[in-house]
Amino acid sequence: MKETINRSDKMIKFDFETYTKEFIDKEEYNKLLAEKEKYIEKLNKSNMVGWMREIDKETVVDIKETAEYIKNNFDVLVVIGIGGSYLSSSAIHSALKSYFSNDFEVIYAGSTLSTKYLDELLNYLKNKNFCLNVISKSGKTLETSIVYKLLKDLLKRKYNIEEMSKHIIATTTKGSGLLWEEAQVEGYKTFEIPNDVGGRYSFITPAHLLPLALNYDIDKIIDGYFDGKRLIDDAYKYALTRNLLFKSKKYIENFCVYEENLLQFTEWLKQLFGESEGKNNQGIFPVASLYTRDLHSLGQFIQEGNKIIFETVIKILNSNHYIQYNNYSLDELNKNISEAVSIAHYKGKVPIIEIEMDELTLENISELAYFFQLSAAFSGYLFNVNPFDQPGVELYKNEIKNLLNKG
Ligand code: PA5
Repeated sequence: MKETINRSDKMIKFDFETYTKEFIDKEEYNKLLAEKEKYIEKLNKSNMVGWMREIDKETVVDIKETAEYIKNNFDVLVVIGIGGSYLSSSAIHSALKSYFSNDFEVIYAGSTLSTKYLDELLNYLKNKNFCLNVISKSGKTLETSIVYKLLKDLLKRKYNIEEMSKHIIATTTKGSGLLWEEAQVEGYKTFEIPNDVGGRYSFITPAHLLPLALNYDIDKIIDGYFDGKRLIDDAYKYALTRNLLFKSKKYIENFCVYEENLLQFTEWLKQLFGESEGKNNQGIFPVASLYTRDLHSLGQFIQEGNKIIFETVIKILNSNHYIQYNNYSLDELNKNISEAVSIAHYKGKVPIIEIEMDELTLENISELAYFFQLSAAFSGYLFNVNPFDQPGVELYKNEIKNLLNKG
């Protein structure tokens, strides 16, 4: 029976005010705050908000059964995808895994065309029993297609066609694209990315959930994610605060974390906000820092350099591990350090938005993901751009196609 999750609404807390007030035009803030319902209505009317809809139960069962099939028949899952097709699942995988782990092995490939990496990967997989999950909404992205072809060729050298097809799972748009067509011809297992969910919003699709189902309870991810609906007011306030910081010439947002495992989550955030806002000469440029490490390098610039930066700090209060150092636990020490950093940076004219999670759990991080997706959508509207398209990415893809066609 499914465990009932009783989560209080105090798991994630936000402070948009303490360390930003000096930079926010209060009158403008209140004016835009009063317009919240208008933006909620706009969002609800959008035809790209499939990510706000419950995932159907059959798909969840199918994902869990497929994960079992992979665990029972293979030693490694290789996920091939780039951008929105891999970032959210790799972000959660990195955030939750142990630093020295014995989980079912999941390798994420396809986000670069590094010759060294791919050569070593092919070598590593030569004697492994591996399964491929190739993920591409369009079914034709260059990097994904190349890495997929290289790994498929390796499978071809080991198995006959019928056996090989059991090693491949395709996650793509149903009914269109090269990947879908190939999967139909070859009889691969397929999962669908709904048309009304853009890559960077695909947290609640099989693109995200299947790779995670190997090691994590996806019911917790789904429940936590939809708990994020209760954060809609905070999501709007976050978008609003960022927008007004931008208007006071804070053009760069530094996502700061104190846990190295969260760096991949900041990669997901970079795509989410960068692609949702960065068009029509608008938007905040997202970067990320690992503290305390980067306080000893970038800290100098942040404190005393060009005042174009604001920070969004994601803090975890309780690590569920205990180490004592003199009169403090390391968790207390990190909390004190993060407070000292906020005070120092604010004195240096760097505004700070604080997000506090009581613990880093599957539910909390999934709820936070929903919050960020909502906020990125609101933010696009506040910048007067479409938060759900990415014409600039398409341009780069077309230019590559043209170049390769010429060659
Ligand atoms: O947001 C986007 O559309 C891109 O970053 C895509 O996620 C990325 O290019 C991968 O595209 P696809 O899933 O079609 O292979």
